[in-house]
Amino acid sequence: MTSIVRNQWYVAAYGREIGREVFGRTICGESILFWRREDGSVTAMSDRCVHRRFPLSEKPSHLVGDTVVCGYHGFTYDADGKCVAVPGQTRVPRTARLKSYPVVEQDSFVWVFIGDDDRSDTVPIPRAPWLDQEGYTTVSGMEPLAARASLLVDNLMDLSHETYLHGGYIGTPEVANTPITTEVDEDAQVVYVSRHMDDADCPPFYAKSTGIQGRIVRWQDIEFHPPCLYLLHSRVAPVGVLPNEDGTDPNGFHVEVVYAITPETEHSTHDFWAVARDFALDDEGVSDFLRESNRTVVLQDVVALDALERVLAGEPDGYQELSINIDTGGLAARRIIAAQAAAGAEQVPESPAALAR
Ligand code: FES
Ligand SMILES: [Fe+2]
Repeated sequence: MTSIVRNQWYVAAYGREIGREVFGRTICGESILFWRREDGSVTAMSDRCVHRRFPLSEKPSHLVGDTVVCGYHGFTYDADGKCVAVPGQTRVPRTARLKSYPVVEQDSFVWVFIGDDDRSDTVPIPRAPWLDQEGYTTVSGMEPLAARASLLVDNLMDLSHETYLHGGYIGTPEVANTPITTEVDEDAQVVYVSRHMDDADCPPFYAKSTGIQGRIVRWQDIEFHPPCLYLLHSRVAPVGVLPNEDGTDPNGFHVEVVYAITPETEHSTHDFWAVARDFALDDEGVSDFLRESNRTVVLQDVVALDALERVLAGEPDGYQELSINIDTGGLAARRIIAAQAAAGAEQVPESPAALAR
């Protein structure tokens, strides 16, 4: 059975990745072509020409106005995926049509709906408004992961690993030593995990970006919207500095760390990461530092998770993991994702051809 949840919106790309060039990416085992119409809107359709399957994202396939021309023999498709011209004859076969996908551009991401198209309206797209909101500056990227998406979910839901895997960047002893609280909103399908440190070492990631010297209050409030969007609301301030009673927080530094976890196949994942901050907004040096640091941290996770994937792929079924308190959020996320996968599989018969890649 597939672990990929269907009938959900997934982040396919940053808006900046898609323009007036053909762009291909595999999402949940489906090869999808993206491009912008002349009016600037994004369209998405199957990346396999109906004639001989040539990828429409491969050169010399190209756009002409609001059509895409296959680079092999010239089949031409409109922005809805309908074939409008074929070589050597005027009659276009009625069945010559690419599957098209619902697409929404929001919060700097291009979201694509994977599943039964007519259900796309009933499934909400989670928000990450800071990524293109005034008052925040964002750095972002995407790293390919040769590991299944569930390993990245586990990783992000349990930040105690920062102390060990990311020591010297974002990890300090207090992260692993401070207990967490976990809450699950079953109706909204959101998992919350919080860790509030009152008196912690300031890791370089925050010391260099905020300029705080000495120890800090460090809050990590995770809000995970399975299966795709992970938000980490991070607040740091000098020790003893708390938000005002009315909720305003002029002396705190806020970083919204966003991950979009998009399966590429059953065993590989697009790891989109973004860091939005509400301080040093115009400081290019801070942007460069946070981009480099976060990318380094993400790559540390990539190395670890790629190793775990190799372990999983090579072991017999039935291995018993041992879970402890720090795993409560990860286990809640797994449970929700399993239920979503089962529900999605009931509504849409799995396509072995699409998922076998
Ligand atoms: S494969 Fe596309 S036109 Fe032949
Ligand atoms: Fe990590």
